[in-house]
Amino acid sequence: MTSYKDKVAGILSKRETPPLFYIRSFGCQQNVSDGEKTAGLLYSMGCGVSPDIASADIIIYNTCAVRESAELKIYGMIGELKHLKEKNPELIIGICGCMAQEEKTVKKILSVYKQVDLIFGTFALEELPRLLYEVLANRKTVSATDEYGMKINEGIPVLRTEKFKASVPVMYGCDNFCSYCIVPYVRGRERSRRPSDILNEVRTLAESGCREIMLLGQNVNSYGKGLDEKINFSGLLRLINETEGDFRIRFMSSHPKDADFELIDTIIECGKVCKHLHLPVQSGSSRILKEMNRGYTAEKYKEIIDYARMRMHGFSFSTDIIVGFPNETGEDFRETLDMLDYVRFDNIFSFIYSKRTGTKAALLTDNTLPENKSERMRILLEKQKRINEENYKRFKGRILDVLFDGKSKTPGYISGKSDEFIIAEALCEDLSVIGSQKKVRVTETMNWAVRGEIV
Ligand code: SAH
Ligand code: SF4
Ligand code: F3S
Repeated sequence: MTSYKDKVAGILSKRETPPLFYIRSFGCQQNVSDGEKTAGLLYSMGCGVSPDIASADIIIYNTCAVRESAELKIYGMIGELKHLKEKNPELIIGICGCMAQEEKTVKKILSVYKQVDLIFGTFALEELPRLLYEVLANRKTVSATDEYGMKINEGIPVLRTEKFKASVPVMYGCDNFCSYCIVPYVRGRERSRRPSDILNEVRTLAESGCREIMLLGQNVNSYGKGLDEKINFSGLLRLINETEGDFRIRFMSSHPKDADFELIDTIIECGKVCKHLHLPVQSGSSRILKEMNRGYTAEKYKEIIDYARMRMHGFSFSTDIIVGFPNETGEDFRETLDMLDYVRFDNIFSFIYSKRTGTKAALLTDNTLPENKSERMRILLEKQKRINEENYKRFKGRILDVLFDGKSKTPGYISGKSDEFIIAEALCEDLSVIGSQKKVRVTETMNWAVRGEIV
């Protein structure tokens, strides 16, 4: 039986030139990683990469549903595609990712955005060849959001955007059901990839000259649950660390309830692992953390920080914060500010709470005023700016390992990230340095980055 992949390839090979695709991924690294698989599938069926959206024959938006603002932006962008479709009726428009996994969203797209040909949720990624075949052969709109089992398909090709940096998913899904969060509904239950499959991928990447590998999962600390092998995330980190090659290892995200001292020890003891932990705290108030169903208290969180700093001076932390969870009081918020003072994060990613239909928190009546929420956000950002400014001063005169990944906005400078995940810039005319790791002596610090010279 001919596979759908071959059927699509057959149809496309009859064209004079291969159709070009343009994929834009929104949201988190997991989505970006899925986008690379979508690209890999299209490429393997004979499509080419479009240099821009205007010359594309296939446009795919890989969507994020985590906050309302993200969704609204995407709806706006889908709306704008109408003009492109009018100009080119042959254009194929696809919507995938987390929004496309929600039934209410799929219904809305089908009824309002007639320019869309193809909708496939996160569970249906590998169904793309069949769906595309139906669009090409029958010119009809298709959608797929069913759960196609919980198996992990290792066979999907990946077309990576960058050569020197790569992300490698280690687990998919989330079982935590934080009360505000839509992710468990659109990404399904936790499932881990086999260590051998992960190691093979890491080995191939290292051999091809990749300098940074980012391990991905909604909660990497629960890696290993349900596998035949007895292994946890720390065990996996040690295995990857032993892989030959000149690359550094990062990972995202860790959940504080599962982050233990063993993880800190592993980070410190493994030479390739960056001495930085992104540990989303969400709130400094134990009362709010309980309401969020996070499974830890502010005190438990601080214990991990204390242990890491006791073992290694200067261990770098970054975090996510939600401001204005339903009924957050001024006192709750003050505890979040106290947490910032206590930990002195090198970076925070902060969000105003966004109500997500279908989650537990969406059922709460919220007595916190929107203007209080935005005011708190302002105060939080202001505070973190000061902390960054003071924090980054510790790097002055020090030598950091920086993987350069592009030109900086500052003319003449190139930019990258240090092991601590801090933006570092250096004056450098030789653009071939981009994609390599260099030692940078820090001469200047700001509240958003450090600057220095390559040594
Ligand atoms: N699995 C990761 C987070 C994924 S979502 C983790 O637990 O760390 C990324 C961040 O978006 C979360 O850490 C949280 O800070 C934020 N977020 C998630 N749902 C949100 C909501 N409904 N409103 C505002 N921010 C939200
Ligand atoms: Fe969402 Fe919580 Fe899962 Fe993170 S751990 S994805 S915040 S439910
Ligand atoms: Fe968004 Fe889905 Fe990631 S909702 S944050 S793209 S898992």
